[in-house]
Amino acid sequence: MEDLKWDEDRLYQLVQEKLGDYLFLVVSNREPYIHSMSGKEIICNRPVSGLTEALDPVMRASKGTWVAYGSGDADRTVVDSSNRVVVPLEKPEYTLRRVWLTDDEVAGFYLGFSNEGLWPLCHVAFVSPTYRETDWDTYKRVNRIFAEAVLQEVAGRKAMVLVQDYHFALLSRLIKEQRPDLTVGQFWHIPWPSHEIFRTCPWQEEILDGLLGNDLLGFHTQSYCHNLLATVEHTLKANVDHNRSTLTYRGKTTLVQPFPISVDFDRLSQEAGNEAVEREMESLRHEFDLAGKYVGVGMDRMDYTKGILERLQALDKFFENFPDYRGKVVFIQAGMPSRTQIDSYQKSNERIDNLASSINSKYGNESWKPLVMMTRQLTLVTLVALRRLANFCVVSSVHDGMNLVAKEYVSSRIDVDGVLILSQFAGAVDEMPDALLINPYAITEFANQIKKAVEMPEMERRRRMKTMRETVSNHNIYWWGASIVSNLISIARV
Ligand code: G6P
Repeated sequence: MEDLKWDEDRLYQLVQEKLGDYLFLVVSNREPYIHSMSGKEIICNRPVSGLTEALDPVMRASKGTWVAYGSGDADRTVVDSSNRVVVPLEKPEYTLRRVWLTDDEVAGFYLGFSNEGLWPLCHVAFVSPTYRETDWDTYKRVNRIFAEAVLQEVAGRKAMVLVQDYHFALLSRLIKEQRPDLTVGQFWHIPWPSHEIFRTCPWQEEILDGLLGNDLLGFHTQSYCHNLLATVEHTLKANVDHNRSTLTYRGKTTLVQPFPISVDFDRLSQEAGNEAVEREMESLRHEFDLAGKYVGVGMDRMDYTKGILERLQALDKFFENFPDYRGKVVFIQAGMPSRTQIDSYQKSNERIDNLASSINSKYGNESWKPLVMMTRQLTLVTLVALRRLANFCVVSSVHDGMNLVAKEYVSSRIDVDGVLILSQFAGAVDEMPDALLINPYAITEFANQIKKAVEMPEMERRRRMKTMRETVSNHNIYWWGASIVSNLISIARV
């Protein structure tokens, strides 16, 4: 897998040569294209999600079918009688099969068990999971609804199914019960916690049983794989082979492997050089008076796992401990609103807003505002321009499966400059030891690392950035897709 660089063409060829007459199916909650009404017109948007960004190129190469929840208010208008639409509309590449859910189902399945139960359970962010029986019942029901849709799409064909994420812990088992001949893999995009934490879940056995319906189970890092193996070992009467990283349970074997997800490095590098980006950089410089200043950025979904509050605390400490930098550093926090109906998200956003205002009033003056909060949906051009403007980018997750912001920042730095400050609790750290590492809870040390980023000599910045760019360029999204697809294909062909 390491020799030649992977790109879309090579992945396409791999899929063409090796997939044969297998249908390739992806299942996720979040759909890759959302159709909505804008006045009287239907517009199509891509959601802000690492997952859909990452899988879209894999789907384009395989020309398969993606099954997902239809969340847009014009989604029903564009599908055919089988709830299918070919996407993207202007250049059809693959089929999107939409599944419809009621408001109650969304509340119990997505907001409830997935995001108030499993999300805090798997991320060690010290937000307690909420385990509501009614949410769990809905979660089970929605997993069954998706299983039916997958089986309908497969019909009589041979197929490989790649299930995405924590929304579907039970899906693979449900599919296999009906069609044991299908090859089913699942990628879990968030961390897997230690057994001590996972066992708090009242339905731990059913969840593990569901996951062991997979032939292949992928995580971002080796340590999440180890945690899963240990959790199963403690919970189920399964045969765990740590050397081969396999689990044998109810007569079938599941291979557990790390697949660190990534980004489309070449596309991001190319986009970074666009004229529109240059213009946007100019206008941001002007709007926020950035000329002659050091610029730091953070860009996240507004989620308590991202350590945005800790980041602001560190900036507060930085301006307190190093007053010479007052007036010289501007930090721009771009934040895409996310899961805003959930109480823990509202509380976290409120604390962030309050701290941001207090920092600005404590240090700011008429000619300088230390923090710029852009907590709204931003265009791709603005995001790329921010990455390019930033002398340093801060990724301070308190826990994160991978964190693609780190890889996006590096990919956009076509000038081979800029410093990445990276949390040791983000999966990305395994591949990026050249970032400045932080413990987001160690606020004084974090503030010192911000100072180090600002003062880092150009030679060192370039050396570190060059290594990180090489890593992401080689371990790009096509490499990730090729690793998973090759594994699934070899399992299917045994
Ligand atoms: C994480 C999850 C994805 C999810 C994304 C955005 O990356 O692993 O499954 O799609 O966040 O969150 P949302 O809840 O908006 O889909």
